[in-house]
Amino acid sequence: MLQNGRGTDSFPRRNLLFSLLGAAALVPLIAAASPSPPSGDDQKVAVSSQTSAQAAAPAAEPTKRPRTAEQIVGGKCLQCHRKVVEEFVNEAHGNAAHSGTGGYDMSTCESCHGPGDKHNDSTLKTDILNPPSMAPAAVNKMCLTCHSKEHSRLSFAASEHDRKGMSCISCHSTHHAQSPVKELQKTTEGELCTSCHIDIRKAYYQRSTHLFRTDQKNEKMSCSSCHNPHGSERERLLVGVSSNSECYSCHAERRAPMLWEHPPVRENCLNCHVAHGSNNLSLMKARASQLCQTCHMHMLWRHQTAGGFDVVSYNRGCMNCHQQIHGSNHPSGKTFLH
Ligand code: HEC
Ligand code: HEC
Ligand code: HEC
Ligand code: HEC
Ligand code: HEC
Ligand code: HEC
Ligand code: HEC
Ligand code: HEC
Ligand code: HEC
Ligand code: HEC
Repeated sequence: MLQNGRGTDSFPRRNLLFSLLGAAALVPLIAAASPSPPSGDDQKVAVSSQTSAQAAAPAAEPTKRPRTAEQIVGGKCLQCHRKVVEEFVNEAHGNAAHSGTGGYDMSTCESCHGPGDKHNDSTLKTDILNPPSMAPAAVNKMCLTCHSKEHSRLSFAASEHDRKGMSCISCHSTHHAQSPVKELQKTTEGELCTSCHIDIRKAYYQRSTHLFRTDQKNEKMSCSSCHNPHGSERERLLVGVSSNSECYSCHAERRAPMLWEHPPVRENCLNCHVAHGSNNLSLMKARASQLCQTCHMHMLWRHQTAGGFDVVSYNRGCMNCHQQIHGSNHPSGKTFLH
């Protein structure tokens, strides 16, 4: 679907852009020739082209940025790589170059492929840089000449992924991206990450999971909700600053101090929970009774008077009575019954 999706997706966008550029050029003509306002769809085009005409107006003054579409999207390469050049405008780099947004150096073909003049004459592939045949470190260096300004990528060097010889294009693709945004190698982020981290994939199908999806398989939460694939100051590429801060960022109600604290909760949520998916309720590491008894040994015998032998197995097990397991604010909540 997405291979097609990209194709079908690209045409309206390109057409729109071209028609805007075209319309922008026509605006003075339209304005001069037709005093009556255009109606319907025409009006929309006219309105948006008016703005782009206004935005383009200062460009009449001398500017060091090349303005013709051909120069920006690689007129040098057009002759032999027409398809790549034409599709470039639908791609983030080409789009930013066209529209003049992006905030920093506009990327042309040669930003990533190096000087092209020699190759233009020889057409030899040895005369042009092609990222997949470059050393990973060289690719990273090249991409980071522009992208190191973004905070989230500051820690890429020496991150888990960098150490394993991966590069930006292990996950991203400039001309053949499969995802609608972020230029990923796979259709979704989850697909991308679990193509290597296969063991995480089962979490999508477990009884309790953070990786829940809609019926259309849209991910509601993705790996990057908790991990920074570009590197982090912490182990496991986690985004939070401490083990629990990760969890508090969404489960804020667990952050508040309690009158009666249950020490393992403050210490680390992962004392009892797993991060991705579990076959137990509530992302628990183990069935409740076993979970509690890893720390509270021999509870069964001491509880017979209170609950008989069913304390372990009936319904929610220990939580039938110890309901406030994350801590209690009740004056007599010392044992988390209230
Ligand atoms: C006169 C024709 C011509 C022009 C102009 C041209 N190329 Fe090429 N390019 C080729 C041919 C032919 C190949 C295939 C070479 C091969 O497979 O040996 C190629 C291959 C490539 C490759 C793949 C190299 C590889 O390792 O497989 C890249 C990247 C590339 N060109 C980029 C560019 C860029 C960027 C420009 C503009 C600056 C450009 N080309 C201009 C003819 C051209
Ligand atoms: C942001 C960096 C970047 C820019 C800008 C860029 N390319 Fe590429 N190019 C790549 C990467 C990465 C690949 C490897 C294939 C992929 O991941 O899409 C590639 C591959 C290619 C290839 C090999 C054939 C293919 O489709 O894989 C050609 C030809 C090419 N680029 C031409 C161009 C031309 C022409 C332009 C300008 C219109 C351009 N590139 C702009 C990064 C870039
Ligand atoms: C392990 C896979 C992986 C690697 C390696 C990787 N990225 Fe990403 N990148 C992603 C994912 C997933 C996203 C989208 C999620 C997000 O925004 O964090 C993304 C988003 C981005 C974005 C979009 C802006 C943003 O922050 O949302 C840029 C730019 C980017 N990456 C550049 C790079 C560069 C440059 C490198 C190499 C130094 C690189 N990436 C290496 C997976 C990766
Ligand atoms: C010459 C500067 C430059 C270079 C080199 C460069 N980029 Fe970019 N990149 C940009 C600009 C500009 C944007 C558009 C930013 C925007 O729209 O805010 C961008 C956007 C992106 C995005 C975001 C796409 C999206 O949908 O949000 C990704 C991912 C990305 N670049 C990856 C790479 C990778 C991988 C490389 C190396 C192969 C690379 N870039 C090389 C300038 C560059
Ligand atoms: C091309 C394969 C590949 C892709 C794609 C990939 N990874 Fe990795 N990842 C690795 C390798 C190799 C390591 C090094 C540790 C290892 O051997 O498991 C690693 C390490 C990690 C670690 C640290 C594991 C630890 O034990 O400390 C996390 C977390 C991680 N990746 C998350 C992600 C996320 C999130 C994505 C998607 C955005 C992703 N990875 C995409 C290959 C990949
Ligand atoms: C709710 C937050 C969250 C989400 C979403 C999440 N992770 Fe994790 N992940 C964690 C935490 C926390 C750890 C550390 C677990 C530990 O230390 O036992 C972790 C550990 C890992 C590890 C290290 C090995 C392991 O199994 O413990 C990998 C690899 C990993 N995650 C990949 C992924 C991938 C791939 C995705 C998306 C499919 C993903 N994570 C989504 C929080 C998350
Ligand atoms: C990016 C936001 C986010 C982060 C970070 C996050 N969670 Fe969640 N968590 C959710 C959402 C959303 C749900 C589903 C809530 C619902 O179904 O009402 C959930 C559900 C849960 C559940 C109940 C699962 C069930 O089956 O009922 C537990 C337990 C949980 N999270 C623990 C954690 C722990 C522990 C961490 C830290 C490792 C964490 N969460 C980090 C968003 C997050
Ligand atoms: C001592 C073990 C333990 C620790 C540590 C723990 N939990 Fe729980 N958590 C549980 C149990 C047991 C349940 C199921 C409660 C039930 O069935 O009534 C649960 C349920 C949940 C739920 C889903 C139901 C609800 O109450 O909203 C969330 C969310 C949750 N925990 C988040 C966290 C977070 C965040 C942390 C870390 C601050 C944490 N837990 C630490 C044992 C623990
Ligand atoms: C990682 C170890 C650990 C796990 C797992 C754990 N606890 Fe605790 N629990 C403790 C510690 C440590 C204390 C504090 C003991 C103290 O103050 O003497 C405590 C205290 C308690 C108390 C209060 C005892 C008192 O005398 O004040 C109750 C009740 C309790 N836990 C029930 C549970 C239940 C029910 C579970 C399962 C959901 C559970 N615990 C899981 C470590 C754990
Ligand atoms: C039928 C209700 C009930 C069930 C089920 C139950 N408890 Fe209790 N628990 C109690 C009562 C009542 C007390 C005594 C409270 C008091 O004295 O304030 C208690 C006290 C405790 C204490 C603190 C006193 C001590 O003896 O150290 C711990 C720890 C504890 N329970 C753990 C557990 C664990 C673990 C489970 C599951 C295996 C469990 N409880 C199941 C009712 C229950």
